[in-house]
Amino acid sequence: MLQIGPYTLPNPFILAPMAGVSEEPFRVIAFRLGAALCPTELVSSQGLMRANQRTLKYLRFDPEVERPYSLQIFGGEPEAMARAAVIGKQYGAQIIDINMGCPVKKVTKNGAGSALLCEPARAAELVRRIHAATGLPVTCKIRSGWDEHNRNYLQVAGELFGAGCAALAIHPRTQAQGYSGKADWDVIADLKRHFPDRPIIGNGDVKTPADARRMRESTGCDFVMIGRAALGNPWIFRELAGGEPPTPEERCEGVLAHFRAHVAFVGDALGAVRSFRRHMAWYAHGLRGAAAFRAEVNALDTPEEVEAAVRRFFASAHFDATALEEEQDVDYRAALG
Ligand SMILES: Cc1cc2nc3c(=O)[nH]c(=O)nc-3n(C[C@H](O)[C@H](O)[C@H](O)COP(=O)(O)O)c2cc1C
Repeated sequence: MLQIGPYTLPNPFILAPMAGVSEEPFRVIAFRLGAALCPTELVSSQGLMRANQRTLKYLRFDPEVERPYSLQIFGGEPEAMARAAVIGKQYGAQIIDINMGCPVKKVTKNGAGSALLCEPARAAELVRRIHAATGLPVTCKIRSGWDEHNRNYLQVAGELFGAGCAALAIHPRTQAQGYSGKADWDVIADLKRHFPDRPIIGNGDVKTPADARRMRESTGCDFVMIGRAALGNPWIFRELAGGEPPTPEERCEGVLAHFRAHVAFVGDALGAVRSFRRHMAWYAHGLRGAAAFRAEVNALDTPEEVEAAVRRFFASAHFDATALEEEQDVDYRAALG
C-alpha cells in the first residue's frame, strides 16, 4: 500500500520533517535522489495566521520537484489550525501533516506537538476541521505516548483514523524520552497489526538502507521515514532505490549545489554561511580530516571562501573508520532551536 489519500507514492521511503533541515533546498535534493515524500519542518499555525514573514518562508517549495507537497503544521487550537491549513493550501500544499510528536516545551506548553497525545479527542478534532476546511488529505505524526505509563498510541491512532487521517507516522519513543533510548519498533508492528488497512509510516533509528528494509519487513509498516541518517547523506534514498553511494566527486558537487541553493533560499550571504555550517559538519561526518575541516569552515564568512574550502576537502575525502571513532557524535539537537 503506497497510497496516501489520492497520491500513490513511487516507493516507501520518506524524508522525516526536521526543523532547520527540511527546508526547500534539502527537500528538493532528497526528492531528486529518490525520496517519495519530504514533508516540511514544523510550521507554526499562529505564525501562518499572522502572515509572519519568517513563517511564510517555510512554505516556499519547488512545485516541479516536490510532488506531492506536504506541509507540516503545529498548534493545538482547531480553528487556528484549520485557518492555517487553508493558508497552506493557498500556497500550494497538497497534504497537511499535523505535528503530534514534538517534545519541545515551547511547543507542548500550548497544547501542541506531543501534548496532543494527552488529548486524543482534540487531536482528532484537528484532523476533522483541517480536512473539512481544505479538502486535503491530512496525515499525522505521533510518538508512542507521553511517557512510559501513558503509551496510548493505539487509542490515539483509533481516534485519528476515525476522524479521517490519511496516513499515520509513528516515532516510537515517548515524549519523556525525547531522543534518548531506542525507538521501539514493536510499537510500529503493533500499530500495523491493529490497523492493517491504514497506511502506517514507521520512523526511528533507521541508520542504513538495510535498517530501512528491516523495519519494513519486521513491522509490516507501509512506509519508512528517515531522519538523522539523511543528514549529510541524502544519497541514502538513491541507495534505497538500488543505486550506489556517492563518489567523492559527487559528494563534493552535491554539497556545493546544496550550499548554492541554501544561499539563494536564505537570501543573506553571511546568514547562509553560518546556517550551512551544520550541514557541512554532517556531510563531513566520518571522512578523514572532518574535525579539522569543521574548525576551518566555522571561521569562514563568505560564500566564496566556503566554496573553496568545500572543493579542497570533499573532492578527495574518503571514509575513515578511525575518524568515525575519534569524532564526537554529531550534535543534531542544536538544529532543534
Ligand atoms: C534536527 C531535527 C529536527 C526535527 N524536527 C522535526 C519537525 O520539525 N517535525 C517533526 O515531526 N519531527 C521532527 N524531528 C523528528 C524527526 O522527524 C524524527 O521523528 C526523529 O529524528 C527520529 O527519526 P530518525 O531516528 O530517523 O532520526 C526532528 C528531528 C531532528 C533530529
